[in-house]
Amino acid sequence: MSTLTTVEFRPLTIPASVDADDAADFIGMTLARNEIYREIAGDDDDAMTPEQLLPHYQSNPDEIRLIWVVVDAGRIVGRIGVDLPLEGESKNAYWIVELLRSHHGRGIGTAAYALVEDAARAHGRTVLQSWAEHPDAPGTRLEAPTGFGSVPEDRAARFYARHGYTLEQVERKSALDLTASRDAVDRILDSATAAAAGYHVVQWVAPTPDEYLEGYAWAKSRMSTDVPTAAMEFDEETWDAERLKRHDQRYLDGGQTALVTVAVEDATGTVVAFNELVIGRDLTAATHQEDTLVLKEHRGHRLGQLVKTAGLARWRSIAPDSPRVITYNAEENRPMLDINEAIGFVPVSYSGAWKKTID
Ligand SMILES: CC(C)(COP(=O)(O)OP(=O)(O)OC[C@H]1O[C@@H](n2cnc3c(N)ncnc32)[C@H](O)[C@@H]1OP(=O)(O)O)[C@@H](O)C(=O)NCCC(=O)NCCS
Repeated sequence: MSTLTTVEFRPLTIPASVDADDAADFIGMTLARNEIYREIAGDDDDAMTPEQLLPHYQSNPDEIRLIWVVVDAGRIVGRIGVDLPLEGESKNAYWIVELLRSHHGRGIGTAAYALVEDAARAHGRTVLQSWAEHPDAPGTRLEAPTGFGSVPEDRAARFYARHGYTLEQVERKSALDLTASRDAVDRILDSATAAAAGYHVVQWVAPTPDEYLEGYAWAKSRMSTDVPTAAMEFDEETWDAERLKRHDQRYLDGGQTALVTVAVEDATGTVVAFNELVIGRDLTAATHQEDTLVLKEHRGHRLGQLVKTAGLARWRSIAPDSPRVITYNAEENRPMLDINEAIGFVPVSYSGAWKKTID
């Protein structure tokens, strides 16, 4: 067994493409990432190909992404990431330390975490935040201060606590079985369509058509202000057509298919609600439901149900062999959970959202 002194934290080279001569570390990082998530979740639903992941690490005017690989005896066994939003005078840093289970419990995580805090300080960031999935386990649990949800006091929870973090929020990961009955989706789509008088549905596969760029960009920006975040801190994001095009381009460059379903107000042509379903090149893999939002002033018209079920209905012809849809919601977000539960989503695991403020 190697000791901590044989372990190296190496800044990750971001190659121009996955076929480039210097892409080996990026590919190794992706494989380690997928293996770590498989160890935690017991499935490959969060797996990404290097091709899919690479666009998210290429330089981007909206954030700085620092990343190191953890190398032991020539093998990549983990990664350290620090994301620094470039929104105004942002004080926030979001980070991960992820190691293969074979490398837990030797102080590697603690040594890696020192890099996180150093990077945050060097960039003047004082609000450090991180998320981890906490698979269900017997024993002591930590309750979210929101009053909704708890996580087992597992190794990750002890790690956060030892480094001065507090649990702020619990997120539910849910899955919808696409091989089961479609009745609930069809029934809710019909009733929501009837209830949503004055609005109509528009759908496209990314890239976003020009006529919806501005409207969808505004709705996307509200994801940073209008969703329940408990005491977690997020900068208000400014989205314009150019930022939205960069967002779409990452899906396209990664070979992903993203279906966007929006509700448009008939009278004004404004995009007032949206839902996103995404899958990679492997159409037999899990689908991910990304953002869903109804603008505040248009809530109460069943538009959340409308965009979600219209998306799922259309998805049958886009990815008929995808077995399930995965989605994440704050455990206290009852309006959204009500919709998902009615559609047939069931909880599969819980993540903790952790925060620490430094001087
Ligand atoms: C959470 C995680 C990063 C911690 O990494 P780690 O290297 O195991 O963490 P530490 O260095 O703090 O060591 C953990 C344990 O080993 C013990 N330990 C610390 N230094 C040690 C050393 N030099 N030798 C032996 N044991 C040591 C600690 O007391 C601690 O015990 P505990 O788990 O019972 O509380 C790691 O478990 C992991 O990658 N988990 C999956 C991903 C994840 O959840 N990440 C959370 C942050 S995003």
